[in-house]
Amino acid sequence: MDLSQQKVRAALHTPLVDLLGCDWPVLCAGMGGVSRSALTVAVSRAGGLGCLGMVRESPAFVREQIYEVRTHTALPFAVNIIPAATEDELLSGQVDVIIQEHVPVVTLFWDVRPAVVKAFKQAGITVLHQVGSLEDARQAVDAGVDGLIAQGVEAGGHVRGTATTSTLVQNLVNEVSLPVIAAGGVLSGDDMASMLALGAQGVWCGTAFLMTHESFAHDYHKQRIVKAKYDATVLTLDYRINWPVEAPVRVLRNPEVQEQARESNVFRDKQQIAVQDDRPVYLLSTDSPLRNAEGDLQKMALYASQYCDQIQNVCTVAERIQQFITCVSRYIDIDDTDFRLQNSRSPCYSSPCSAESGSPEYNGFLSQAELSSVLFALLSNERDIVAACRELLRANADSALKARTETVQQDAIRYCFRLLGCLHAVGFERDPAKRATHTRCKSDDADLKVCKESLQVLLERVVGTLHQSGSKVHDPDIRYLLKDMIQGHQNSLVMLES
Ligand SMILES: Cc1cc2nc3c(=O)[nH]c(=O)nc-3n(C[C@H](O)[C@H](O)[C@H](O)COP(=O)(O)O)c2cc1C
Repeated sequence: MDLSQQKVRAALHTPLVDLLGCDWPVLCAGMGGVSRSALTVAVSRAGGLGCLGMVRESPAFVREQIYEVRTHTALPFAVNIIPAATEDELLSGQVDVIIQEHVPVVTLFWDVRPAVVKAFKQAGITVLHQVGSLEDARQAVDAGVDGLIAQGVEAGGHVRGTATTSTLVQNLVNEVSLPVIAAGGVLSGDDMASMLALGAQGVWCGTAFLMTHESFAHDYHKQRIVKAKYDATVLTLDYRINWPVEAPVRVLRNPEVQEQARESNVFRDKQQIAVQDDRPVYLLSTDSPLRNAEGDLQKMALYASQYCDQIQNVCTVAERIQQFITCVSRYIDIDDTDFRLQNSRSPCYSSPCSAESGSPEYNGFLSQAELSSVLFALLSNERDIVAACRELLRANADSALKARTETVQQDAIRYCFRLLGCLHAVGFERDPAKRATHTRCKSDDADLKVCKESLQVLLERVVGTLHQSGSKVHDPDIRYLLKDMIQGHQNSLVMLES
């Protein structure tokens, strides 16, 4: 491993990586049917954390899949179950097997069941809970989980909340001290970099891993995603058979099926449309087509991320993870710093309090506490800019505006990373202030103008703050960074105007 690879590894070595025992903060979503042993093994072997999607599977099958993973790797992996979608007796059998087999990590979804969390915690298992709101998150924290998967409304499959991934990640990072993992619309290394910049310690990807050779999804499902265009998905309550609770799912739009869903009799008189895993599949069931499915596959639930049009190929898991890491590493200033995202302190910046006089207010410079407060405020502004750029990029902007927004976003991501580096260097890990997250516009055509204006306002505001604070900073490295940020954001404003 050369020096730059070592620096990338160190930079991505978030506390979550230590908690899970993997190399990269990239987790495969536990996708029912789709993430079986082959995908799980491939993700863990590529340095991420693989996760068996075992929702409603029999205890015998769960055990078989765990054995299958362990036959091929000794690396850590997770098992995913969904208590709300599982009958009590079956759930208790699944919990028993996971505990008996000493699975290292369990991931849970939908409503929080404190008794289930407690059973796993007592058995020494690390528990991550996927949540869709701050309220869910608070319940999961109270139940004793070790980390939160923040699922935004862009996610493929069952969707718990209504906030976008950027908004939820920012809110959870501000609110809880547990590791936050971003889920929903993370399809590329650029998406991963923006989530890390927003304060997530890792990413949990469904569609990106469904689109690999190792996933157990049917090739028809993968090819439909390859061909998907902008706005190909819909969030719908139509697919209800198999799930006891009413729950929205994000699938590829299918007007014919959605039309049939409106005729209520399809729920009374089940209509079989396919067979898979030796079981019948009914119209409007939550089953997505797996490798062994036969029948009318286009009528099945084709789960996909809202921005699945970004993924145009099926590749191996190792290639997918490598693409992510290579892309994220472009945001890391290899020559400049030795920073780590939310990890240990970097020695690169001298402490501003080492000013000769020993007095914090010496020559009108900011004291260490004031400096940290300014840096956290700037970080919060930069995060708002990253999130606002994401919104604008998701709206159907023309290619020129998209390219400009991408440049603005890339700068803001880099500034987030560098500000985090400064904060670690001066010894501040957590922002003591509770900061409000900037309210966002919706990501559709009609809001394009609002999204752009809102981004411009944020850029103007941050330039103002930078001007006010820059001259009061004693440390030359930090002063240089703030000057660089003023220049960068002023260029962004000019670019967005053109
Ligand atoms: C095909 C598919 C199946 C899914 N099945 C499950 C599941 O069984 N359990 C679960 O917790 N989440 C499930 N999800 C949701 C994921 O956990 C995750 O929130 C989502 O994939 C993230 O969004 P993305 O697809 O944009 O990456 C599924 C998602 C997909 C695409």
